[in-house]
Amino acid sequence: MNIEALSPCGGRVSGVDLREPLNPSTLAAIESAMDQYAVLVFPAQHLDQDQQMALASALGPLELGFRRIRGGAHRLKYKELADISNVTVDGEVAARDHQKIVSNLANQLWHSDSSFQKPRAKYSMLAASVVPALGGETEFADLRMAYDALPGWRREQIAGLQAVHFALHSRYLLGDTEYTQAQKDAFPPVVWPLVQSDPRTGRKILYVGAHACAIEGMVLAEARLLLMDLLEHATQRQFVYTHRWAEGDLVIWDNTATVHRGRHFDLSQRRELRRATTREVLTSPEAAALA
Ligand code: OGA
Ligand code: MN
Repeated sequence: MNIEALSPCGGRVSGVDLREPLNPSTLAAIESAMDQYAVLVFPAQHLDQDQQMALASALGPLELGFRRIRGGAHRLKYKELADISNVTVDGEVAARDHQKIVSNLANQLWHSDSSFQKPRAKYSMLAASVVPALGGETEFADLRMAYDALPGWRREQIAGLQAVHFALHSRYLLGDTEYTQAQKDAFPPVVWPLVQSDPRTGRKILYVGAHACAIEGMVLAEARLLLMDLLEHATQRQFVYTHRWAEGDLVIWDNTATVHRGRHFDLSQRRELRRATTREVLTSPEAAALA
């Protein structure tokens, strides 16, 4: 397995076939490369759904995310695969006011998957099968680089602060508010420290994103502005890798160390990706450090 560093963060991996079951040493090599790079791009893997499920399951227990509250018809073979596409169950490009499109548009806000729940997501694995001619890139910002670049006064200001993350906050931001009480109750808000240490690498992380909607003990307006300022800091170009998709690409990212967002594309063009996501598994001392 060879890794070429991408700029300014991430790595491009060659010399491994993810369609085959991974042996323990390759698996360990991928995990330690994830610790270092936080985003790994595996070009031309062309995984089918079974192969993507097998790969994801080897990396941890699988996470359902929003599918827990949205039932209904699913285009894919497994409920653990999120259908990141603008295509309906009939195989047609969805109308722009279709709930699925509105919901996918929230992916264009900087976020980390499932930061609104405990336990949260660890690795997300996105496989591209159809990509539009223009746009539709995915950007990743490294929250460890973001923390390292904070000035001392800012580090002092945010040390010990606890941010509240809520699943529907990003949807509300886009005016998508039609949820039943049962759906709202399905994801009670959770709290995460704004500054975290990666239990595997010890690196500090500036844990922000679109699901963060308040800070405990802080006036709401001030908290929202602080969260916006920090997210703006974290997503400066010098911390961002932009992935331009080709069919067959697989990209793995660490949700605990990065935020990501999709970019605009022409919604009348097909864009079809599939995502599998693992749940973070922590030892009790690690979980206590994040409480
Ligand atoms: C996701 C996501 C962005 C994109 O799948 O979690 O945020 O570019 N995707 O589709
Ligand atoms: Mn996402």
